[in-house]
Amino acid sequence: MKRSIVIGCGSYLPRRVVTNNELAKSLDTDDDWIVSRTGIRQRHIADEGELTSDLALMAAQRALENAGILPSEVDILIVATTTPDQTFPATATKVQHQLGMMHGAAFDIQAVCSGFIYGLSVADNLIKGGQAQTVVLIGAETFSRILDWEDRSTCVLFGDGAGAIVLRAAENQDINKEESDTNLHTRRGVLSTHIHSDGATNNILYVDGGPSSTQMVGHVRMNGREVFRHAVNNLAGIVGEALDANRLNSEDIDWLVPHQANRRILDGTARKLGLPIEKVVVTVERHANTSAASVPLALDEAVRDGRIKTNDLVLLEAMGGGLTWGAGVIRW
Ligand code: UT7
Repeated sequence: MKRSIVIGCGSYLPRRVVTNNELAKSLDTDDDWIVSRTGIRQRHIADEGELTSDLALMAAQRALENAGILPSEVDILIVATTTPDQTFPATATKVQHQLGMMHGAAFDIQAVCSGFIYGLSVADNLIKGGQAQTVVLIGAETFSRILDWEDRSTCVLFGDGAGAIVLRAAENQDINKEESDTNLHTRRGVLSTHIHSDGATNNILYVDGGPSSTQMVGHVRMNGREVFRHAVNNLAGIVGEALDANRLNSEDIDWLVPHQANRRILDGTARKLGLPIEKVVVTVERHANTSAASVPLALDEAVRDGRIKTNDLVLLEAMGGGLTWGAGVIRW
């Protein structure tokens, strides 16, 4: 049986930083409200003409460099995004071309803020099933393009960015050379992924447009309070499911890398898990909610600053429009 090992990661944030005070110049809001309700202090916003594919490409190049491999070694490239450059072709095919990948397959995944976790599930299963040897998985968004900049209840919450990981197939016996394989808990790689959705909750977080309905892109609409309520319940549920599936306790987790929507949700999830907040990777104050990019952006930051180390047990989780939600457990 094959399994997927993470061999590299990378990320990219647009240069332009927009603070809460800057938003307050044109919007009936203030830094105090935004910080106290969300933890967000600033967000990165893509320049005009800077596209999701541009952000995705930078993150993928950095991840490949970190992995020490060439684009020619990649079989599958996945972009999780809800803000594709165009309705079609898939943004992933543009990134494939720009990377110089002349073979394999590239496609997008749309699960909004849970897109990276959904992508992890697909990538892991392609590797386990023997269909891919090396997968680049990217979460990339220019969410600023689908915000209604006059709606203070949504536009202050989001930002742009991209993060990527490179996954490679490893045979169990390859890993045995270095490590004992008798104990599931000591194996490196993706231990499990878990995904859920509930279309009955479509109407609490959505974009009011699209090719088939309005022929326009539309803007994000959200019933924040309802989404918050579901987030707290669904995330506690999915984290429990992921731990149970691996017969782990929350004390076994070295790092929780959650979707970065709201500091209060992160604190609530950590509290429910009984995990000290020092074990939670928090970027929401600087990145805001970057949808599918938020988990890989946080992951990359914590790997590069030395917090996440080889063999650490990392728990990822996210929830977004759909509603969709999911989790993944990785022995790094
Ligand atoms: O990534 C997908 C998942 N998304 C999420 O997880 C988001 C989940 N929801 C949330 O994070 C929170 O619900 C929000 C941050 C969106 C809102 O926080 P809240 O504590 O639930 O506030 P609220 O929506 O209940 O609004 C409270 C008040 C309202 O005024 P009234 O009706 O009480 O007079 C809003 O109009 O705050 C007002 N308000 C604002 N005031 C200043 C809403 N947005 C703003 C703002 N500045 N930007």
